[in-house]
Amino acid sequence: MQKIIIQGIKGKMGSVLFKLLEDSEEHEVVAGVSRNYNKNKEVTIPVYHSLNEVKEHADVCIDFSNHSAVNSLLKGAVEKQMPLVICTTGFSDEELGCIKKASAIIPVFQSYNTSIGVAVTNALVAKAAKILKNFDAEIIEAHHNQKQDSPSGTALMLANTIRENSPERDILKYGRHGHDKRNKDEIGIHSIRAGSIVGEHSILFAGEGEVLEIKHTAQSRDIFARGAIAAADFIVNKASGFYGMKDLMGGA
Ligand SMILES: NC(=O)c1ccc[n+]([C@@H]2O[C@H](COP(=O)([O-])OP(=O)(O)OC[C@H]3O[C@@H](n4cnc5c(N)ncnc54)[C@H](OP(=O)(O)O)[C@@H]3O)[C@@H](O)[C@H]2O)c1
Repeated sequence: MQKIIIQGIKGKMGSVLFKLLEDSEEHEVVAGVSRNYNKNKEVTIPVYHSLNEVKEHADVCIDFSNHSAVNSLLKGAVEKQMPLVICTTGFSDEELGCIKKASAIIPVFQSYNTSIGVAVTNALVAKAAKILKNFDAEIIEAHHNQKQDSPSGTALMLANTIRENSPERDILKYGRHGHDKRNKDEIGIHSIRAGSIVGEHSILFAGEGEVLEIKHTAQSRDIFARGAIAAADFIVNKASGFYGMKDLMGGA
């Protein structure tokens, strides 16, 4: 039985993850982390303000919270020598640097999108970017109106994949207005925030007379939670290091 701590247990993703793990025979949630745990009536396990306050033993911590919580998350995990699955988005370069630094001491799995479908989308985008170098690349993403960070971490991940596979596209253009024409080197990124949309990512490669569209639609938050559980199973006995969806998928 793998023992798990959830940071962000009160949130939309934390609640979905908790429910899936409650139904699992191979996993047990032993504690949660939330800033407002007193108001948390529905969760029956102990809930703490920060990871290093957690008293229960656990094998791994899964984080779906907020980028501002990363320092206490890393501090707690390093102190406890606990593997971490970080699913939160919106990190600054400095915060990402701290995560990488911690991965020299403990195993850290990090992904802005833990859905297997998005991992395959990313692999397809890599291939298209490499071959369709003269096509214009644009990313359109849509999420619910409560999402805090824009563009989505997944859109940034997809943009980086395009850049890595066609370095000539080196300008990220967030939205468009005004009179300037499109620059050939740009990757356009457009964010829609509306209603309760779980998550959509559409990647366009548009050439002369043809458009290739690669699209992923998340219909339920379960897909991210399931991927996070698979990541936890994957990382739990690994050596310290930085792991991601590519490692989980065997390098594909
Ligand atoms: N990797 C993926 O596949 C994936 C998929 C979906 C979402 N996400 C990301 O996961 C994160 C959570 O998403 P969500 O939709 O669940 O958001 P949410 O509903 O707003 O929940 C965020 C949770 O984080 C907690 N939190 C916020 N600031 C904190 C802090 N400084 N310290 C400790 N806890 C803090 C909040 O609880 P308290 O107020 O009680 O502290 C809340 O429970 C976001 O970054 C989102 O973009 C990732």
